[in-house]
Amino acid sequence: MNFKALIASGGRGTRLRPITHTQNKHLIPIANKPILHYAIEAAASAGIKEIGIVINADSDEVPKAIGDGRRWGTKITYIPQDSPSGLAHVVRIAEPFIGKDNFIFYLGDNMVVGGVKKYLDEFQRSGANCFLALAKVKDPERFGVPEIRNGEIVRVEEKPREPKSNYAVAGIYIYDHHIFEAVNGIVPSGRGELEISDAHQYLIDHGYKIGFSEITGWWKDTGKPLDLLEANRLILENTDPHIEDGVEIDPHSDVAGRVVLQRGCRIIGSKVRGPAIIGEGAVIVNSYIGPFTSIGAGTNVSNSEVEYSIVLRGCRIIDAGMRIEGSLLGNDVEIVRADGKPRVQRFMIGDQSRVEVA
Ligand code: DAU
Repeated sequence: MNFKALIASGGRGTRLRPITHTQNKHLIPIANKPILHYAIEAAASAGIKEIGIVINADSDEVPKAIGDGRRWGTKITYIPQDSPSGLAHVVRIAEPFIGKDNFIFYLGDNMVVGGVKKYLDEFQRSGANCFLALAKVKDPERFGVPEIRNGEIVRVEEKPREPKSNYAVAGIYIYDHHIFEAVNGIVPSGRGELEISDAHQYLIDHGYKIGFSEITGWWKDTGKPLDLLEANRLILENTDPHIEDGVEIDPHSDVAGRVVLQRGCRIIGSKVRGPAIIGEGAVIVNSYIGPFTSIGAGTNVSNSEVEYSIVLRGCRIIDAGMRIEGSLLGNDVEIVRADGKPRVQRFMIGDQSRVEVA
């Protein structure tokens, strides 16, 4: 059967400011690859050829960065959304693209290991109208939460104060065309959005069949900065180590563990402890790069220590003094030693940044 994919990449990414002041959150790299690539790859490797990506109508950032989909053997159609009016609204405006086909709706900020093919197969086997992937979480109040009785989902609530289970409905949904009846049959919630959970509740109330299964590997919603660091950790842990062309590692350096060294990067007098990735043309001198770290292209780290962090492209970390840990640095950020007396910390920080000093 022909499946299409619908991927959401709109919204404002307010919880990831300041990075999202200058960059769509779906283009933030995890292990040096935009988050959105993981969704597209998941669809493509499940054999899906036609992908619709919902974008903010006022920005061409995503189409410019992603292109027409040919590099994944797919055809990508961009669907502009005038304002972030909710996930059921995303589905509503995609009806002309989807037509009568079955489709997977994938939230572009979600990441799941092991792909989605098995969920498409389960959907087909079950004969359900809608299929939800559930993940056990510690904080269900942040998500859509199912209530399960006698092996059936009897209710779905969006961000409930008192969750009825410790499951989150993950941002990977599979539908047949009845979902359009649902998204057209609901009204905006208290926060003014057309909620996807209300559309699921509509399907339940109208007697449609909801299938579900539990995600057994890992799944991450990358809505908050700490989620990005965790997703980065998980991806790096699952990445095969390799060294690309033109990489230089001098004899005084020590590279160990799961490490990816991208084209033309240089490791001089430094220790790199994987899992880690060092981007194209980056230069690491007399430094320590610790586990779960991504260093972006062209970034320069010198006489410094970085661990469990995401550093984007073009940064300069020079004589940083203390180890940088649990940090997310945007593009072209500089952390350098302040010379002279008195010894001070000097900051030049954009809106809504956050710095923790010891
Ligand atoms: O991550 C799973 C959760 O995703 C589910 O458990 C919830 O039921 C579901 O409502 C959603 O909750 P979030 O609060 O995480 O949704 P968020 O507003 O962050 O949007 C999710 C993605 O969809 C994100 O990539 C931005 C995009 N988006 C969002 C809205 C509201 C759009 O493209 N258009 C929109 O109008």
